Amino acid sequence: MRVAIVGTGYVGLVTGACLADRGHEVVCVDVDAAKVAAITAGQAPFHEAGLPELLARHAGRNLRATTDLGAAVRASEITLVAVGTPFRGQAIDLGFVERAAREIGEALRGGTDWHTVVIRSTVVPGTTDGLVLPTLEQHSGRRAGESLGVGMNPEFLTEGTAVADFVRQDRIVIGGVDEQTRDAIDRLYAGFEGVPRVRTNPRTAEMIKYASNALLATAISFTNELANLGAALGGIDTREVMRGVHLSRYLTAQDATPAGWTAPVASFYEAGCGYGGSCLPKDVKALAAHGRAAGVPMRLLEAVDAVNRDQPARLVDLVRRRFPSLAGVPVTVLGLAFKPGTDDVRETPAKPVVEGLLEAGARVTVFDPVANGAAEGLFGPGRVAVAGSLGGAVEGASVVVLVTRWPEFAEVPALLAQSPEPPLVVDGRRMLERASVAHYDGIGLGDA
Ligand SMILES: NC(=O)c1ccc[n+]([C@@H]2O[C@H](COP(=O)([O-])OP(=O)(O)OC[C@H]3O[C@@H](n4cnc5c(N)ncnc54)[C@H](O)[C@@H]3O)[C@@H](O)[C@H]2O)c1
Repeated sequence: MRVAIVGTGYVGLVTGACLADRGHEVVCVDVDAAKVAAITAGQAPFHEAGLPELLARHAGRNLRATTDLGAAVRASEITLVAVGTPFRGQAIDLGFVERAAREIGEALRGGTDWHTVVIRSTVVPGTTDGLVLPTLEQHSGRRAGESLGVGMNPEFLTEGTAVADFVRQDRIVIGGVDEQTRDAIDRLYAGFEGVPRVRTNPRTAEMIKYASNALLATAISFTNELANLGAALGGIDTREVMRGVHLSRYLTAQDATPAGWTAPVASFYEAGCGYGGSCLPKDVKALAAHGRAAGVPMRLLEAVDAVNRDQPARLVDLVRRRFPSLAGVPVTVLGLAFKPGTDDVRETPAKPVVEGLLEAGARVTVFDPVANGAAEGLFGPGRVAVAGSLGGAVEGASVVVLVTRWPEFAEVPALLAQSPEPPLVVDGRRMLERASVAHYDGIGLGDA
């Protein structure tokens, strides 16, 4: 198919590159000329495994990029919208979606060939049929169902594994205002025959996306709240608690292999220093705000958000338990990205952790395998030192705080093995074994 994608961030570009790899003719549109230039040159504007290879294969061939939205839309039969939907103040900001719908509508004015417009951005239920559809109709002069299809096809990719997630989709949710729209979205995914599909209306599709993220966030805050109680009571390791919980047949896929192998289906039930990123925090807040506006307060989700906001401070508390005064103490924070495999630092728990340590007077050094460049933007110039290597980061530290589960950080015990004065390692992700370093503490690990 001839596909235009408006908004070429994580979702738009990964979708575009993966669809190009499936043989579609894709044009990516962005208002950011630097991003467009990078894609045109075959360079990924952000860190994502597998993306450079896809760009090398398809950029300049069946994957092109432009700032000219009108030309891209007119040359296509289907337009996907993947612009940002940030949470601002009290509610989701749909300004980028509305502007994109207006510009797409204007591009479609005068044409007669059927065109399908599909929202890929995460938008609160009611946005596609209540805002996008009328905006498109008003600016195109067309009627939905006549020469205009309007749909919603949520994205479920996870940054860090986004390309692999697209290739091995677990579901395809197809929300359309009519059958013709649903069929058009379906054709985009030719070649994904074995993947379960949910064909529904746009509102239900929008809600499926929020329900999915809200459930994951709830699992995380639930476990973190248990971890905090376990630590306060003492003698409870929440990692073991959750392993025990996982073995329930409700949460574990019982595989009938001879080895009796079982696979946890809920890896989000892990104690940690809270969720971050561009999705879970804002999506939980946006759904809760949408509920309030509809007169249905989402009390559970409000609590999920509140627990998550407090969780990074628990990590600072663990440091202060051993170092009541942090004035001048050299503390190294490992990980700035909100999760491994990405350089995305939006809403990263590393920010409140570092700010808490700075407030307490610590001398903070940070290190991230790919997101070091974000340090100045996060903390301001000169407030933290940025280490160039993991070894350099931990050398001379009195405390090492692990915030992101980068696989590289498994090297920390080996790096500290010969240290004359081994630091306290505070593990915000429970990724290191307790006995692997001289002084260890971690989230959800109460005193014996
Ligand atoms: N990042 C994720 O992991 C993820 C996963 C699933 C869903 N989502 C959702 O997908 C949407 C996009 O997220 P993202 O992380 O890719 O955002 P992003 O900020 O990385 O990218 C959005 C892009 O849209 C561009 N843009 C904004 N207005 C435009 C316009 N009128 N015309 C052309 N380009 C325009 C911006 O310049 C930017 O490059 C959001 O709704 C998000 O909630 C994100």
